[in-house]
Amino acid sequence: MTLRKEHWENIYKCKQPNEVGWYEAHPEMSLRLVKSTGVGIDGSIVDVGGGASSLSDVLIKDGYPKITVLDISAAALQRAKERLGELSNRVKWLEGDITEAKLPDNYDIWHDRAVFHFLTNADDRRKYVDTLRESLNTGGYAIIGTFSIDGPVKCSGLDVVRYSPETLHRELGDDFKLLESINVEHVTPSKFVQKFIF
Ligand SMILES: C[S@@+](CC[C@H](N)C(=O)[O-])C[C@H]1O[C@@H](n2cnc3c(N)ncnc32)[C@H](O)[C@@H]1O
Repeated sequence: MTLRKEHWENIYKCKQPNEVGWYEAHPEMSLRLVKSTGVGIDGSIVDVGGGASSLSDVLIKDGYPKITVLDISAAALQRAKERLGELSNRVKWLEGDITEAKLPDNYDIWHDRAVFHFLTNADDRRKYVDTLRESLNTGGYAIIGTFSIDGPVKCSGLDVVRYSPETLHRELGDDFKLLESINVEHVTPSKFVQKFIF
């Protein structure tokens, strides 16, 4: 097992989903951005590093039939599946590291909240962007949330890279057009404010 996987497996084995800093009861901004793409409910969505997030719950509820959740941690996916019960059959669950994974499908929407910022190694970022480019349909949308330049320097005890909309766009390259950027203040369960950009 890689150190990265071990780290995340431990987090999800030791903590309840609502005890982690990134917990949100309702993924409001993610949902708003998914809707704002204009991709209809027949569109396909991948939530990269989706963990135990409830984004899949709300997408199922809204009727999206093609939802994929990828995460490095089997324990995280297990938490999400248990919460969803029967409904978990409506999601394709993939266990893998996004810097190594080859995704089986193509998607209209790529969603990542608080995953890309953990890639402190340029080679890992290049592999992530290669997979994003290969997996997104032409005209598809990437919704990526990271800590902003005035956000925390660490997340889950790990170093992160902080971004402005411009530096994040630069990482993705000219195949992507920056359509919108939004500042978000996330309040953790222990009431710390974390500044994100999407
Ligand atoms: C800060 S959490 C965010 C979880 C979720 N996106 C949310 O908003 O609730 C980061 C997630 O990314 C996963 N992760 C970290 N590095 C990853 C990688 N290289 N490939 C896939 N998943 C990864 C972790 O297991 C964890 O679930």
